[in-house]
Amino acid sequence: MTASAQHTPVLLDEVVDALQLQPGDTVVDGTFGAGGYTRAMLAVGVGRVIGFDRDPDAIAEGRSLVPDPRLTLVEERFSQMDRVLAERGIGPVDAIALDIGVSSMQLDRAERGFAFSGDGPLDMRMDQSGPTAAEFLNQADEAEIARVLREYGEEPRARTISRAIVAARPIQRTGELARIARRAVGYRQGQKSDPATRTFQAIRIHLNAELDELEQGLVAAERSLRPGGRLAVVTFHSLEDRIVKRFFRERSGGTPAGSRHRPVLADPNEPTFEKVAKPVSPTERELAGNPRSRSARLRSATRTSAKPRHTKVDKR
Ligand SMILES: C[S@@+](CC[C@H](N)C(=O)[O-])C[C@H]1O[C@@H](n2cnc3c(N)ncnc32)[C@H](O)[C@@H]1O
Repeated sequence: MTASAQHTPVLLDEVVDALQLQPGDTVVDGTFGAGGYTRAMLAVGVGRVIGFDRDPDAIAEGRSLVPDPRLTLVEERFSQMDRVLAERGIGPVDAIALDIGVSSMQLDRAERGFAFSGDGPLDMRMDQSGPTAAEFLNQADEAEIARVLREYGEEPRARTISRAIVAARPIQRTGELARIARRAVGYRQGQKSDPATRTFQAIRIHLNAELDELEQGLVAAERSLRPGGRLAVVTFHSLEDRIVKRFFRERSGGTPAGSRHRPVLADPNEPTFEKVAKPVSPTERELAGNPRSRSARLRSATRTSAKPRHTKVDKR
């Protein structure tokens, strides 16, 4: 099987539609992965795709996956796209796609340590730098591990799992971590949702600072799009979707919900995005063919001519 066959792009037709691509356009694919979106963009006749990925494996394999002279590959985080485009003299772009999360290539290779289905070293680093999951879990204190599980995995039994992790240290393998999480919450084989899913998701998001990356990536996209340019973002769980929803709401002039402690202030800025589309979910047909697409959501909007704001959206 080729690497390209291993990742089924999610909401592909919907993303291409949302980007409203025209022949000759310059487009950023902020999460190249296995090149599924890039291939579709090139197929509709765009002039150039700049494909970013923070994973050196994705970049190393990218050229053979998409052997097209219109593709430029960049090993970098998408939060840096505005700087990279400026350094390369690439002007404001016509469209940007972000497909947040991990690729099937990352999940399916046990040695990358992202998945609990196989057994591999506890790694989980997308760009293969910084502390590994094993280093984090063997060094952090129990309260810090519990915070990560609660915040990024929405794990109701975060304390119980973090206590079990600390008691079992040192842990080195994905299989060990999966067993610890399951035993701590009393998982039985065949049960609908495997608690290891939340534990793995939480640690991965923490190690790769994925929510910060998303917030900064949206700001970088705002700086990189031409007036009238389109931004399409696919997320995989509610924590990410909330960030995108709030960003578009805030940037299109919508009023954030206030509270007694945080009264709503009039927004003096002009909207930087308009025509915010309703969120799109996979069809039954897509779900049947690719169960991994289950929680995917697409949000998209059009850039206005207003100056970029240079601030992240308020996460609360
Ligand atoms: C869901 S996959 C993208 C799949 C792609 N759309 C396709 O059709 O093949 C996400 C990819 O984005 C990369 N990625 C995640 N966060 C990133 C970031 N902040 N900057 C750049 N790449 C990132 C991952 O390494 C992974 O390869």
